[in-house]
Amino acid sequence: MSHLTEREPVGVIGTGYVGLVTAAGFAELGHDVWCVDIDEAKIENLRQGRIPIWEPGLSELVERHRSRLHFSTQLSNALERARLLFVAVGTPPTYSGDADLSAVNAVVAAMPASDRHALVMKSTVPVGTGETIRRVFAEQSKGFSYVSCPEFLKEGSAVKDFLAPDRVVVGDDSDWAGDAVVELYAPLEAPLVRTDIKSAEMVKLASNAFLATKISFINEIANVCEETGADVVEVARGMGLDDRIGPKFLQAGIGFGGSCFPKDVAALKQLAGNSGYHFQLLNSVIEVNELQKRRVMAKLQKHLGTLVGKEIGLLGLAFKPNTDDMREASSLVLTARLQAAGARVRVYDPVAEQEARKLIRGVEFRSSALDVAAGADAVVLVTEWPEFAELDLGELAAAMRGDLLVDGRNFLDADRVRDAGLDYEGVGRPSRTGRGATALSAADG
Ligand code: UDX
Repeated sequence: MSHLTEREPVGVIGTGYVGLVTAAGFAELGHDVWCVDIDEAKIENLRQGRIPIWEPGLSELVERHRSRLHFSTQLSNALERARLLFVAVGTPPTYSGDADLSAVNAVVAAMPASDRHALVMKSTVPVGTGETIRRVFAEQSKGFSYVSCPEFLKEGSAVKDFLAPDRVVVGDDSDWAGDAVVELYAPLEAPLVRTDIKSAEMVKLASNAFLATKISFINEIANVCEETGADVVEVARGMGLDDRIGPKFLQAGIGFGGSCFPKDVAALKQLAGNSGYHFQLLNSVIEVNELQKRRVMAKLQKHLGTLVGKEIGLLGLAFKPNTDDMREASSLVLTARLQAAGARVRVYDPVAEQEARKLIRGVEFRSSALDVAAGADAVVLVTEWPEFAELDLGELAAAMRGDLLVDGRNFLDADRVRDAGLDYEGVGRPSRTGRGATALSAADG
């Protein structure tokens, strides 16, 4: 290819989170995008303008660019029109902790011989995957080029992250395909890291592992704060002002979840192990996270004693706010632990109920936070949905049978909770006893 047309058509294989956001993002930049998925029902829905995921701004973007977004189950539709085929298929974890590359391999196998096409890998894959795919292409004399272009978008702000990325990483063999991908992203004016394929693959895994490490680190600091009387929110503020540390991903809580961190941390640990290196630090990051999800139990037991027959309400279920994604959500572990301890669990999530119903059995789904609080012995804030910041805590307290609020995300103002008469337990902060109770005991005295 000597030179590029300005609005190069783009192919996207896989219409999940990453694929759909990538497709909508390139459409926003003026490109025609040919999306392919093997799921016929999903493609039919997308053709009708129905988006399968809840992601702020995505429906609007897809709607606005309907004429540029083409959906099909036929790979040939994309191959005929686009030379760059972005691969955004799932790479879920297997029982061994390795990434399941069967969907990626199926895409590779489906490619015809062509020296004018390139696969651009968006799916998160182990380091070395690009090399293997290139070898397969070479052995089969397919002539395909290959570029690694990892995706760093966060659920809940995926559209914004695509259009204003912190950086664009392009790993390639310095051929036309790498140049074409760089040109595609040029309008975003993001810092570019152009590198070899293996390094690009590692940037993605290492970035996720580092962020997960930061969270497990602050969670352990929070646990020590609980033992020593310090407040982790203050500690994180003091740490975060150091430029070298930075304030982000220092929010202590009840553990990280989602489709990426748990999977990618496990995959990097496994990758290291497979290459003969024992990645000690990541073992701890994973273990700390697992334990963190369970620490709520001790807080509940401290106040309520046995949980047998106790009514426990959960506010939020999604792994984080602004998404309906329930994958690896802390709420899954928590509900299972509560049920095992004999508690009765009622839950509310503003958006994730439908997804949660597929994964959680034996709980009562309620339609508001107040409904969850009605008659509850304790309420646990699991996901920091913005609407929970607006709660009338007095009303909440009045509706409850008990008076304990566990704030699993340090999201609420502890003083306001206490003023409403509730006992407050955060993560890594001193417990507060409700004013009602204090006033009462003072009066008694
Ligand atoms: C993450 C990465 O941020 C993104 O770059 C990558 O492409 C995919 O994985 P995502 O899973 O959407 O994105 O969510 P993120 O906002 O990173 O949060 C992940 C988890 O960490 C959530 O469960 C969140 O509650 C938790 N978290 C995050 C904390 O517990 N504390 C923090 O300070 C930040």
